[in-house]
Amino acid sequence: MHALTRRFALAATATTLAFALLPVAHAKERVLNIYSARHYQTDEALYSNFTKQTGIKINRLDGRAEELLERIRNEGANSPADVLITVDAANLSVADAWGIFQPVQSKVLESRIPANLRTPTWFAFSTRARVIIHNRKLVKPADVATYESLSSPKLKGLICVRSGMHPYNLSLVASLVAHNGEAATEQWARGVVANLAMPPRGGDTDHIKSVASGECGVAIANTYYLARMLNSEKVEERNMMKRLGIVLPNQSSQGVHINVSGAGVVKTSKNREAAVQFLEYLASDQAQRYFAEGNNEWPAVSAVKIENEGLEDIGEFKADSLPLEKLSQHLVTAQKLLDRAGWR
Ligand code: FE2
Repeated sequence: MHALTRRFALAATATTLAFALLPVAHAKERVLNIYSARHYQTDEALYSNFTKQTGIKINRLDGRAEELLERIRNEGANSPADVLITVDAANLSVADAWGIFQPVQSKVLESRIPANLRTPTWFAFSTRARVIIHNRKLVKPADVATYESLSSPKLKGLICVRSGMHPYNLSLVASLVAHNGEAATEQWARGVVANLAMPPRGGDTDHIKSVASGECGVAIANTYYLARMLNSEKVEERNMMKRLGIVLPNQSSQGVHINVSGAGVVKTSKNREAAVQFLEYLASDQAQRYFAEGNNEWPAVSAVKIENEGLEDIGEFKADSLPLEKLSQHLVTAQKLLDRAGWR
């Protein structure tokens, strides 16, 4: 063989080899597909740190919880999703009811996540509390000491709320059904509707602003929105917080309703091992701190210490320890009674 031809042949072989190896190397690259409905920019570090630790690349698809749930359902057995991470027990329960998750057994998760914050298929990784906020001039804290007190005629024309279809309300009302029963909770919901300052609309941040301005006297808000305002670099936001009081309700009964952000492994996952590894990572000290410091949530792992002035300002409180699995059983009842009560 002519020298040049031989060189070409060798080069060709080398090239073929490189191309042949490429797909193999690519197939060996570990990738995890995460569908995420957490809408917080600060989560970037949460994901990139997992890749740094494990070498497993994350493909993330962001969307609203309902969209992602529908999508996984429509994709069926072909769904590329390995993990679904979202907020609110109500969303996680829908995923469960639709058979989207598979059971996960993990010694790490069982030892790190308290029993009331996990189910056989999904796990809470952070908590937030739904507290009562009131305009200091319009409403006395003693008049809004419990969720139940929100139906009192004293509060006529003062309450602002989210839609009765919003997961935050569904979970809160499901917890009240668990504690007080369906009939009493329906009665309560009718009382709250009779006290509304305006039809249910807007989100927690809108309500915080409306309570501060006096447009509403009372509302319910997640602690992470409040801590965000308390920690704000904007003077007007910190001043706004001075006009409203934060009540940690039900301290002599069940405690403050706790909501969560959580995740589970998708039933059709082709990367089960890496998916479980990711959930275990979310329970690690470092990931737990990202939740707290990035988005003003409390770690689900109670031993993890955090520094967050806004959360410290809200203070210590007795939290409702109702297991999420129990709460989930009352979500359908909650939706129906809110409909009947006209809380739309
Ligand atoms: Fe939120």
